[in-house]
Amino acid sequence: MSSYIIRGGNRLEGKVRIGGSKNAALGIIAAAMAADGPSVIENLPDVSDIKLLLSICSELGAEVEMLGPGEVRIDPRSVLTHEACIDLVRKFRGSYYLLGAFLGRFNAARMYLPGGCDLGSRPIDLHIKGFEALGAHFEMEQDGIISLSADKLEGAGIFLDQVSVGATINIMLAAVHVPGMTVIDNAAREPHIVDVANFLNAMGANIRGAGTDVIRIEGRPVLPGNISYAIIPDQIEAGTYMMMAPLTGGDLLVENIIPKHMETLSAKLEEMGAVIEEGGDYIRCTMPEGVPLRAASFKTLPYPGFPTDLQPQAVTLLCKAQGTGRMIENIYENRFQYISYLRLMGANIITSGKLAVVQGGSVLHGAPVEARDLRAGAAMVMAGLMAEGETTVQNIYPIQRGYENFLDKLHAIGADIEEVGAAGVRPVW
Ligand code: UD1
Repeated sequence: MSSYIIRGGNRLEGKVRIGGSKNAALGIIAAAMAADGPSVIENLPDVSDIKLLLSICSELGAEVEMLGPGEVRIDPRSVLTHEACIDLVRKFRGSYYLLGAFLGRFNAARMYLPGGCDLGSRPIDLHIKGFEALGAHFEMEQDGIISLSADKLEGAGIFLDQVSVGATINIMLAAVHVPGMTVIDNAAREPHIVDVANFLNAMGANIRGAGTDVIRIEGRPVLPGNISYAIIPDQIEAGTYMMMAPLTGGDLLVENIIPKHMETLSAKLEEMGAVIEEGGDYIRCTMPEGVPLRAASFKTLPYPGFPTDLQPQAVTLLCKAQGTGRMIENIYENRFQYISYLRLMGANIITSGKLAVVQGGSVLHGAPVEARDLRAGAAMVMAGLMAEGETTVQNIYPIQRGYENFLDKLHAIGADIEEVGAAGVRPVW
């Protein structure tokens, strides 16, 4: 198991280039598996979740060819099975998009329940209800195998009881092949939903309304593919680096992003005292000298609200701010587990249910901590960057699931961080 050792206190400054969106890439790779022809996908992030999904596609028979850094060609025509009962599926959450892709393409899908970060119970009942509304028969088999089958699928109206990113994408992936009109009501509106829909439309699908809460999909018998498509930048990677500027009193230019996707965070950072300068594809985030970082209140919500995937990083930033900050976590019931590590480092945080109250301004000191999950892991690194002394973040694998070239990017902006222990996940290309 590898660890990061961080010696805190450095002011971070310089440029960071953001990679492609991990969560969009997961949906888009699954979409490519639903096509009737090959696709070239560009701006893939170099992170382990993507490597795993590409390995699964290849094990299932697809031709997967890396054309260069971040560029892959996927030809799914050689995939003749609708079954993905392989262990890799259990290692991350995004593998569940093969359910929708295969159901639409083969009228059947069978695979293990997905894995992913432990953020409390993470049911997939809304995905299943959507598939059933299209006419699929669902069965939960032994060993956690999900089985879907249908003699005939037909477009339907589907109302999601709760806004769900995964269910919205999964139902779209199936419905593009299903005859008739499918309407998803109360759909999620995250930027990566729009990106997956744009990719599917480029492949030959007919999806309207992605980015609003009503998405209309008219099924097509054939989705020719034969496209080249570049994935949008990763909103969460960008947000993590943006927060490192006020965290270290620094000055960071976060490049290759869509500033509109960052609006909620930008507004909060300005409220806290940071200066935000937006350009066409960058945000410069600066903490002016002599200006105190002020506490603020956050609540996580579906897009365009504050993303739950930036919650642990924002709580860590609140530890540095003057005054009392608040975080309400509305999406996941168990996403404050990492706070015990911040307390170990000297933070003053009380939690009660969905609420965390942070009394900022305490000086954090280095300690051995753990990356409990992907975003909490990034928060631990951030805590180490501002702490006095040395912080060891153990078990860094979850961080490598979602942050490409984390060490190199942090070195380039002046962080004192090294990786020790067994070799972690190496770059995919
Ligand atoms: C996706 C992201 C994850 C992010 C989350 C919320 C991927 C691979 N993961 O996860 O990084 O934290 O969106 O932005 O894109 N729910 C149900 N039943 C369901 C589905 C969801 O009750 O069938 C609940 C969940 O428990 C949660 C809420 O709905 O409380 C939102 O979950 P959802 O948006 O589906 O998250 P994921 O797609 O799993």
